[in-house]
Amino acid sequence: MADDDSYPCSFVIFGATGHLAGTKLLPALFELEAAGRLPEVTNFFAFGRRAFDDASWSAHMEQSLRSERPARFSPKLFARFAARFSYVQGDLHDVDAYRRLLAELGTPKTGTCANQVFYLAISPSDFAAVAHNLAEVGLNRPRGQHRIVVEKPFGENLESAQALNRLLHEHFDEKQIFRIDHYLGKETVQNLVVFRFANLLVEPLWNRNFVDHVQITVAESTGIGTRAGYYDRTGAMRDMLQNHLMQLLTLVAMEPPAALEPESLRDEKVKVLRSIRPIPRRLLSTHAFRAQYAAGSVSGKPVPAYREEEGVEPGSITETYVAARFLIDNWRWRGVPFYLRTGKRLHQSQSHVAIRFKHPPQQLFRETPLEDTAPNWIILGLQPRESMGMEIQARQPGLSLNTRTIRMDASYRGEGLRTVDAYEALLLDIVRGDQTNFIRFDEVEWAWRVVDPILRAWAQEREHIHTYPAGSWGPAESNRLFEWDYQAWRDDA
Ligand code: BG6
Repeated sequence: MADDDSYPCSFVIFGATGHLAGTKLLPALFELEAAGRLPEVTNFFAFGRRAFDDASWSAHMEQSLRSERPARFSPKLFARFAARFSYVQGDLHDVDAYRRLLAELGTPKTGTCANQVFYLAISPSDFAAVAHNLAEVGLNRPRGQHRIVVEKPFGENLESAQALNRLLHEHFDEKQIFRIDHYLGKETVQNLVVFRFANLLVEPLWNRNFVDHVQITVAESTGIGTRAGYYDRTGAMRDMLQNHLMQLLTLVAMEPPAALEPESLRDEKVKVLRSIRPIPRRLLSTHAFRAQYAAGSVSGKPVPAYREEEGVEPGSITETYVAARFLIDNWRWRGVPFYLRTGKRLHQSQSHVAIRFKHPPQQLFRETPLEDTAPNWIILGLQPRESMGMEIQARQPGLSLNTRTIRMDASYRGEGLRTVDAYEALLLDIVRGDQTNFIRFDEVEWAWRVVDPILRAWAQEREHIHTYPAGSWGPAESNRLFEWDYQAWRDDA
């Protein structure tokens, strides 16, 4: 890619031997290599604590990529990829390690360039130390060029997010900070904006006059794996809802941006977050619900309760399921509930945005068998199947007056087309310096303002948490969030 030659080409991965790097970053970079999307001059610097040299790091990475990308792996491709890497061993808190990194950056393997990317695939509690030590050895300069990438959750409440932000800003400008939310790299999430604003048919219906309610579901059948240390301190609200689901909500609800450029788009998302009605403490139980999985079975296999997972406190009340009802007080959405839910160890991995429409204003079919006609839905499936569907009513062929629901399915991806991982798209954006699909700090702040009161109230109710059997669709009690009896969770996309 000739036009990419001016992009940064030294890419430092802090936490290179960790879970995120192994399962997401390295496979995504490897795919970009395979697709020929990496600028020719691209050097990777894997920074980790483990005692590797370049050769043993390569062997470690090879083993990991063989298991993460068995179909893609080829020795020739891997050799090209691995040749770009240098391994820098060190402790994140030791400034000498950064001096070694500085020296390594001066001797890149594939040629030199001006810009550098620092990817913090590490625990958020180490962000500050890394930013500080990078600045200590001068790697934050020139300001405005080098980029620092941080993963969510950004802080654990409004206050800590602001403190972290101040700290990053001591050494880096906002233009240099890429706050990643990988949901924004998912094709179907990016498609939301296209679906809404490229179709004249859709936009006129997308408001309180026609929409009954909106549901956003991100269900996972997996448990917490080996991440108990992180998850038990974090919970579903901070891990998923405050960021991934909130981002989906903003994309569904926002006004058309003035232009498709980073600031316009992010301005519109912030306006949505600012319009979410604060939930008063006395109404909390009808607006937010949390629960934890008990033992059960997923896909026919028995699985333990959350509290029995290795590394989880036996009496933990960390939520693995959260559901919430939000109201957006603006002209477009006033009175339309947005129901959000996410959970681990649910019946299946299934994520979608479902828009339920109101009934037609004239009950033309009253007192006929059509009285209970089902409503229209638009359903955007995010995963596992990427889909765009619409449910409409049609007359059932025959002699009597009956309807049936017809599903119009515009499946998003044709047979045989490769699914591009969210990280691939976002890594290319980082290299190009495009912040459109990254979170601006005011988005983080407003999202915390929405969920903080809920988290504060929960922090005081420490004795009890509802449970649901692993493998179910979550606790029936979460139905109390629905404003009307006819509303219910939609499990399929
Ligand atoms: C991560 C969360 O951000 O997103 C995980 O920390 C979660 O707990 C994951 O499993 C879900 O991502 P995806 O892309 O598999 O839906």
